[in-house]
Amino acid sequence: MVKKKNQTVKQPLTNDVDAFFGKNKSFAATEAYKLLRTNIQFSFSTETKCPVIGVTSSLRGEGKSTTSINLAIALAETGKRVLLIDADMRLPSVAEKLNLELTPGLSNLLVEQLGMKQKFSNVETLDILTAGNPPPNPSELLGGQRMESFLNEQKQNYAYIVMDLPPVTSVSDTLTVSRVLDGLLLVIRGDYASKKALNETLRQMKLANVHIIGFVYTFAGGRGKGYYSKYGKYGKYGKYGKDYGYGEKAGKTNANSEKVSASK
Ligand SMILES: Nc1ncnc2c1ncn2[C@@H]1O[C@H](COP(=O)(O)OP(=O)(O)OP(=O)(O)O)[C@@H](O)[C@H]1O
Ligand SMILES: [Mg+2]
Repeated sequence: MVKKKNQTVKQPLTNDVDAFFGKNKSFAATEAYKLLRTNIQFSFSTETKCPVIGVTSSLRGEGKSTTSINLAIALAETGKRVLLIDADMRLPSVAEKLNLELTPGLSNLLVEQLGMKQKFSNVETLDILTAGNPPPNPSELLGGQRMESFLNEQKQNYAYIVMDLPPVTSVSDTLTVSRVLDGLLLVIRGDYASKKALNETLRQMKLANVHIIGFVYTFAGGRGKGYYSKYGKYGKYGKYGKDYGYGEKAGKTNANSEKVSASK
């Protein structure tokens, strides 16, 4: 192929799956997720058989899915059986991030169709249920009786269930599913989270009587160039309305910083 003057040649993409979730994950990130795992392990008494852990944030793009996936992997690496569920049925991303099939998944299963669990690379003890076909009524499905009985069934087979949830201030899904959670992790993106949105989230969680197990602070490294340009003015999330009412202008970010910390 002849390269035209000034034409930029596309570099081959690095294997994102490995870089973010697999063998090429940075040492700092790996250690941070192990620390998160330890904190989670200490958060539940031995009487809680198979805690169901929800992962959410106030706003979109704070790192919920990345945190959910890495937490599920870290837990499964101890040899315990773990189920990761992509419960963000409106804008699912687990399938895409891990190169899995989006369907059939959770939504199919909740409308009494087939929902198939999938495996991720060589973490033998991790099963993943992707989001499935986008349903018209995710909130009703998540808050419904079938979701509750599905989780109760699965608790017999796993040591932990991790649920990647939508953000709290945009849709009611997380609130409706909160009663079946044993604990909730709140992801806060250092260079972007809004105090107002966070306060609103905490208020809603308190009203719903949710047990917040801790906070995961992402993008702790500060600023740089990258990812969030895609979220500028929430364009990507137009289907939720103009914005969530709490958003502030997205800051610049450093998508390469992978510092994650968990606090109780
Ligand atoms: N701790 C972190 N450090 C740096 N980058 C991160 C971190 N966590 C996530 N990211 C990056 O931030 C971006 C958003 O992450 P992710 O998709 O996990 O967010 P989300 O909250 O699930 O978004 P959405 O609301 O769209 O579901 C991704 O590009 C991801 O690679
Ligand atoms: Mg997500």
